[in-house]
Amino acid sequence: MTASLSRVAIVGAGAMGCSIAALFARHGLDVTLIDPVAGALDRARSTLAMRLSDLPDAARSEASARIALAAELQAAASAALVIEAVPENLALKQKIFADLDAVCDPATIFATNTSGLSITSIAQSTQRPDRFVGTHFFMPADVIPLVEVVRNAATSAGTVERVMTLLRQGGKRPVLVKQDIPGFIANRIQHALAREAMSLLEKGIASAEDIDEVVKWSLGIRLALSGPLEQRDLNGLDVHHAIASYLYADLDNRTTPSALLTQKVADGQLGAKTGEGFYRWSDADREALLRQKSDDLRALAAWLDSRAEGQPKPPAAPASHTDS
Ligand SMILES: NC(=O)c1ccc[n+]([C@@H]2O[C@H](COP(=O)([O-])OP(=O)(O)OC[C@H]3O[C@@H](n4cnc5c(N)ncnc54)[C@H](O)[C@@H]3O)[C@@H](O)[C@H]2O)c1
Repeated sequence: MTASLSRVAIVGAGAMGCSIAALFARHGLDVTLIDPVAGALDRARSTLAMRLSDLPDAARSEASARIALAAELQAAASAALVIEAVPENLALKQKIFADLDAVCDPATIFATNTSGLSITSIAQSTQRPDRFVGTHFFMPADVIPLVEVVRNAATSAGTVERVMTLLRQGGKRPVLVKQDIPGFIANRIQHALAREAMSLLEKGIASAEDIDEVVKWSLGIRLALSGPLEQRDLNGLDVHHAIASYLYADLDNRTTPSALLTQKVADGQLGAKTGEGFYRWSDADREALLRQKSDDLRALAAWLDSRAEGQPKPPAAPASHTDS
């Protein structure tokens, strides 16, 4: 039996760091949220207040009181688990873990919330690659149930077990990604979908609203109940094979971001946070919408969770490529 991870520190108090902190605080854990950047902790206070705003008064005060804010990495010294959620920059992440390695107990487990950088490369900046994993949470982390737990070649079985146990205590559904592959599972699939959606927009096949409408009310609604492989079984693999035989040659397979996406980024049209992306957003829209989406996702996740209880699940077919 391995010891539980009761003290958690999170480095980086942005969108993800705050929602991961809110998640653990909701589940009764003490969290230290660390960010040395000027103004970051003030922003974190208001983000945390938003992330806990659906709780009744007493529960909200209790959860808030479990989150300590700090500007120094030294505040992670007594943590059993440190999760890093700083910007997606390999050199920055390596520097932070090298510094944490000097500050934390050798037994402390390190986890990075990178969206798809190499876990092995980040872990190499420490003396503890065996106690190092990727924990890829999804936005908002206190709502979306799944976490991809990604091992590097040296991650020990005990580290994986302890992190998965903690995540389950936090109400999550962790899935182990057995190899350190860029983008892990979800971002590979998400980017394949987004590349094709942007390509359709660029070619003028439909408006952004209509492309989103098609995905939300067909594939999206179905994907909440059946994953892409299960859904292919339900449709028939012969049907899928026949379509794949003529369609794949026509799908977007570019290996760099599209001209449309590159131009938008160059123009500062970064999406909701700058007021324009594929849509236009006012500050009031953005705040109200983020709150509403979060509440709706929480309700949907709870409904799906209640349905999943006791539902029969077909066992995966035995095949050489599905080693279990
Ligand atoms: N936003 C998402 O949807 C999402 C989803 C999954 C994973 N991620 C990943 O999570 C990580 C964080 O993303 P985010 O969206 O929260 O970014 P963010 O920009 O909202 O937050 C990053 C935070 O890191 C802080 N920071 C910068 N330098 C620092 C340093 N030297 N030490 C400590 N803190 C520092 C910043 O002040 C900021 O508060 C990234 O690796 C990202 O790829 C993001």
